[in-house]
Amino acid sequence: MGDSRIPGFYRLDGAQRHAELKTRLGLSDADLAVLADGGSLDWDRADKMVENCVGVFGLPIGLGLNFTINGRDLMVPMVVEEPSIVAAVSHIAKLARPYGGFKADTDPGVMISQVQIVDVPDMDAAIAALTAARAQILARANAVHPNMAARGGGARDIEVRRFDAPWPMLVLHLLADCCDAMGANAVNAMAEGVAPLVEDLTGGKVYLRILSNLADRRCARASVRLPESALATKTFTGAQVAEGVVQAWRFAAIDPYRAATHNKGIMNGIDAVAIATGNDWRGIEAGAHAYAARDGRYTSLTEWWREDGHLNGRIELPLAVGTVGGSTRVHPTLAVLRKILKVNTARELAEVMAAVGLAQNLGAMKALSTEGIQRGHMSLHARQMALAVGAEGAQVDAIAAALVKGGDIKLDAAEALLRALK
Ligand code: MEV
Repeated sequence: MGDSRIPGFYRLDGAQRHAELKTRLGLSDADLAVLADGGSLDWDRADKMVENCVGVFGLPIGLGLNFTINGRDLMVPMVVEEPSIVAAVSHIAKLARPYGGFKADTDPGVMISQVQIVDVPDMDAAIAALTAARAQILARANAVHPNMAARGGGARDIEVRRFDAPWPMLVLHLLADCCDAMGANAVNAMAEGVAPLVEDLTGGKVYLRILSNLADRRCARASVRLPESALATKTFTGAQVAEGVVQAWRFAAIDPYRAATHNKGIMNGIDAVAIATGNDWRGIEAGAHAYAARDGRYTSLTEWWREDGHLNGRIELPLAVGTVGGSTRVHPTLAVLRKILKVNTARELAEVMAAVGLAQNLGAMKALSTEGIQRGHMSLHARQMALAVGAEGAQVDAIAAALVKGGDIKLDAAEALLRALK
């Protein structure tokens, strides 16, 4: 049995789940204590991370189970406050697992940093000068970050983009391979480092020197292919579910209002992994949504179709993530989560995120196009009602089940049930 398939994990209590992590992944008692202690990021450390720090905020860590990605078995830590997300990805990963799970691939870690040049006296001459000085510009950029070149990365190429009326300007793109780092600091420093040379070459004035979050040289892709029969539920045939999923995808493909929600669902999964690995989820979000609009109209990040009795899905999006540098090492919990998610490189991490996004998307569309998501949400809502009236331990699930069965999920009904139990 692979590591990430733990039947009935959701039914175990906290201590039993930790025992599973100990035996399956070799986590130590100290590691488990870090996971259990929402305050393992202490105030002193937090105070070094942001200004005006007044405390530390906790969020649940869930495990996305059952994932097979490129033949590797993976447990995926996810940090997220919204119910159903971890369950949905684990459910889809479980369906996909017997059929090879997810395939994924990525581009090298090439970031774009932008240098904005205005008041250029002769645009054509400036473009020619920048193009001719390519090697010099790259050498200057690499001198800013010799370590990156030593790790096999560094500035690789330039592009010059021209904008005319109403606001003529040139934009120099520096393309730098950041290897396993997200690379924001490095490429920002490179852009700042080449700016004086760029002004000399163009005769213009440089304003902004900053990375682009539309990291489209650093895309990740994932795909999945499932026999439709695997999608059957108690009330729907596999073919009905597959058709519902394809209809749901078509809706997102043609309508930006739906695409925003559809992509939000995808990012539910991706952001949760980004946070669990210390990555900049705002940058990932910006890149994803900009990429979704790359053809001039905002659309779905995924694609789903039926073929030969199978449902097929794929996703492609920029994923500028790192496994080194930035904040990936600051939070003590991240070190433990790295032991759970056994990826070594930024590219592997991006592949996991793409697969999780694709799984999340299928989970949402499968629910939405069949029974709807409210039923699942109602049972979670019922649990919250039970907690709110003071239920403890096994009482919570008993009261929640009775509330759902009675169809009246209200505080007074929960109170009455708790009184009866007592
Ligand atoms: C909720 O967080 C996400 C969904 O709205 C995604 C979707 O509609 O596809 C369920």
